Amino acid sequence: MNLKENLSELRATTKLQWKLASMIPGTQRQTLLRQLREISKNVSCPHNESEILTVGLEVLSIPKDREGYVVEAGLYKGGSTAKISLFCKLSGRKLVAFDSFEGIPENTEEHAKSTLGHSLEGWFAKGTLCGSLDEVKANIEKYGEMEVCTFIKGWFENTMPDFKEKIAVAYLDVDLAASTRTCLKYLYPLIVSGGVLYSQDGDIPLAAAVFRDERFWEEWEEEVGFKMPHIENLGKKLIKVTKNV
Ligand SMILES: C[S@@+](CC[C@H](N)C(=O)[O-])C[C@H]1O[C@@H](n2cnc3c(N)ncnc32)[C@H](O)[C@@H]1O
Repeated sequence: MNLKENLSELRATTKLQWKLASMIPGTQRQTLLRQLREISKNVSCPHNESEILTVGLEVLSIPKDREGYVVEAGLYKGGSTAKISLFCKLSGRKLVAFDSFEGIPENTEEHAKSTLGHSLEGWFAKGTLCGSLDEVKANIEKYGEMEVCTFIKGWFENTMPDFKEKIAVAYLDVDLAASTRTCLKYLYPLIVSGGVLYSQDGDIPLAAAVFRDERFWEEWEEEVGFKMPHIENLGKKLIKVTKNV
């Protein structure tokens, strides 16, 4: 991150921490923030704190009478999973986490630059961003809340079609356009009314283009029977889709 990005991340994180202050009492909040810092310090985390805080606040805000799991797709070393598991524990939710645990799949996508101007060349080659299931579990045992987690191992296109549970909050960090499409196709229909799906790949032009692609949504509507949803934050890093039907 350059200086400008650092400052804007600092501002966003501070704002979210204020919001957290209105939701969790002092000591519990201090413990949570210390745990989040510990994870960032000890586990390789390719996300910004503000992204996880946004998703975490969303998990804490789920009304008690709303059904649904929290679902994460794309775990890498489990840094984001460990953090989200802490929020799930606080709000009494279960977390279902999908990954190949073999890194990025075979693909022919040509990623040049992020929307922030950073080079993405070679980032998403087959096998990159790999964390094994053992590594992820070890990180969650050490820093997160294992008891709320269930792991589903395999390529999304093979594992997601069998998942039929209701989802209250979904969080995607899957880098590829193809993986984003698969997640939307199988996970969005499971989101309950009022539920939310985040993608933190809004800065990856090919992944963000899936959300803008009217053809995709038209074909998707025919296949899964849902209209193109309301999408916020297109052009920003953390895309938000809320289901209001
Ligand atoms: C950027 S990493 C996730 C980073 C993690 N959320 C964090 O912040 O610490 C992307 C992950 O997506 C997974 N992934 C991408 N496409 C996939 C697919 N089609 N099937 C299974 N896993 C996939 C990779 O294995 C990798 O672990």
